[in-house]
Amino acid sequence: MTMIQRLRRSRRTAEIRALVAETRLSVDDFIMPYFVVEGINVKKPIETMPEVFRFSIDNLLKDIEELSGLGVKGVLLFGVPDKKNPTGSYAYKRTGIIQKAVSAIKKKFPGIAVITDVCMCSYTSAGHCGIVKNGIVQNDDSLAVLSKIALSHADAGADIVAPSAMMDGQVGAIREILDSKKCVDVAIMAYSAKYASGFYAPFRDAADSSPKFGDRKSYQMDYRNVKEALRESAADLREGADILMVKPALSYLDVIRAVKEHPETSIAPLAAYNVSGEYSMVKAAAMKGWLDEKKTAMEILTSIKRAGADIIITYFAKQAAGWIKEDE
Ligand code: PBG
Repeated sequence: MTMIQRLRRSRRTAEIRALVAETRLSVDDFIMPYFVVEGINVKKPIETMPEVFRFSIDNLLKDIEELSGLGVKGVLLFGVPDKKNPTGSYAYKRTGIIQKAVSAIKKKFPGIAVITDVCMCSYTSAGHCGIVKNGIVQNDDSLAVLSKIALSHADAGADIVAPSAMMDGQVGAIREILDSKKCVDVAIMAYSAKYASGFYAPFRDAADSSPKFGDRKSYQMDYRNVKEALRESAADLREGADILMVKPALSYLDVIRAVKEHPETSIAPLAAYNVSGEYSMVKAAAMKGWLDEKKTAMEILTSIKRAGADIIITYFAKQAAGWIKEDE
């Protein structure tokens, strides 16, 4: 039988498969998230996120040394403060945990791209991403605080600030304050399409950031929507975002693809956040012996890239960098 098309020909050996591969995962794509706490020599496991830790700054620096040795170039920092208050004001203290961590990292590893999460949920008593009045998360009051937080991170030396509070106008407000204070070189990675997701649960353990009442559905996106993600992304670009983001990633590959294809948003670099629950599902199944961790994690990360993400934020960053090296 003559078959002109025999697609198996190009799958025959590993070498041929490598030649025709359409998607290539690289360490250059990865950003590693970290949780930072006060103290010395702290490396506290997070029960719901195997092999992820809350580090004090000294131990954080040690881990980043290993990470950068593997070629990963970006870190995303989350502060877990000792104290909270209603206004979340510890988030913009000059001597806050994140501010100290940023300057320590930039001093020791000037080349590492330091990105900071700009949000209030770990810092407010109510555990919401903005200021609460009369049981409602206030948009415009929160913008003032988010701007102060971003500026304090920029002053500490952050390369990129990443507002994740999902307040309307947060990117514009932050761009304005950064520019007015001469921080014109500090970039903004906007959590543009951030969905209200059950996959954040392990993160909230790690960052101690669960809402004390209600949920985040009045500000984070509804997972039934994709066109709205395009509106969010386009708005963030107009407000001055340098990098867009879709979050979570795995259940949102269609959203990643939509943002990457829409004429107004496709021209911007796009990050996707492979969130805590997506990580912990794989870890838990692997620990039970139900899945092969390396195979499934690499498949997931590659699928995020294939969908259209340029940057992948993942708790697997360090391990995956090791796996990529191992396979070279
Ligand atoms: C804070 C924030 C959250 C995540 C990143 N920034 C949690 C939330 O919105 O409740 C989740 C990240 C993850 O699950 O890995 N606003």
